[in-house]
Amino acid sequence: MSVTVRVPAKVNVQLAVGAARPDGYHDLANVFLAVGLYDEVTVTEADALRVTCAGPDAHQVPLDRTNLAARAAVALAERHGRSPDVHLHIAKDIPVAGGMAGGSADGAGALLACDALWGTGASRDELLDICAELGSDVPFSLVGGAALGTGRGEKLTPLEVGGTFHWVFAMADGGLSTPAVFREFDRLGEGTDIPEPVASPDLLDALAKGDPEALAAAVSNDLQPAALSLFPALADTLAAGRAAGALTALVSGSGPTTAFLVRDAESAAKVAAELRASGTCRTVRTASGPAPGATVLGG
Ligand code: C5P
Repeated sequence: MSVTVRVPAKVNVQLAVGAARPDGYHDLANVFLAVGLYDEVTVTEADALRVTCAGPDAHQVPLDRTNLAARAAVALAERHGRSPDVHLHIAKDIPVAGGMAGGSADGAGALLACDALWGTGASRDELLDICAELGSDVPFSLVGGAALGTGRGEKLTPLEVGGTFHWVFAMADGGLSTPAVFREFDRLGEGTDIPEPVASPDLLDALAKGDPEALAAAVSNDLQPAALSLFPALADTLAAGRAAGALTALVSGSGPTTAFLVRDAESAAKVAAELRASGTCRTVRTASGPAPGATVLGG
């Protein structure tokens, strides 16, 4: 028997970052929007825990117990006093180390898939607890839609979204490590007063109204200067997308994927074609959001 779960990628339409906390994490006001690029995690009973991965970036995915999908299976099995012996297969379409929560998606997907396969019957709150232990972005991958994440990003408040937002994503040549980007944020901010992170009322209003122009005027990412500092070529990609007619251009999360908000599907196709022709990125994808969270497809 096997169970497959589909899990979306995310873009951060606002990422407000506070000063480093004593535990090394940063308090955030993190407005997540799930978008329709998906990984699928299939779990099958097996003699030992193992992970396989297929997809264009599959060679970059660790297949040992550091993989968030494996860690999710182990965490759920431990809580329920059973063995985690399953084969986890990840059909990967979300860019790896791209700032789109691809690893988090696999953790949330494996957790939901194992819960269904094993008949664990874990409550939503227990699943969300395990997600938060696995990583700051993992609870959002389970929930999807749009949400404000506070604390280190794991405390979620669902947000209303009044329409569909169309995006173009440019994948860069290479990845960025999230801890390295946060360290660069700390370095760039040394000696300055870093304000408490708060969600922008204009941004929440734009989401609720489904108004792309208003959302474009309100998006922000406090990690963008750090990502650009570590990966200066991203400035060329951002400029190419703006020149192609995107309403706004920003680094997605900790990067290096760049995100371009556009008015509609037609504009997405045009901006995507111009970005592809610009030679400033590896691949280009279009997707819209909000997208549903982790969903069991069948067994
Ligand atoms: O929570 P997660 O393991 O996904 O975070 C990865 C790394 O990103 C952390 O080890 C930390 O360096 C950084 N981080 C942070 N503040 C957050 C979330 C992540 O500094 N709120």
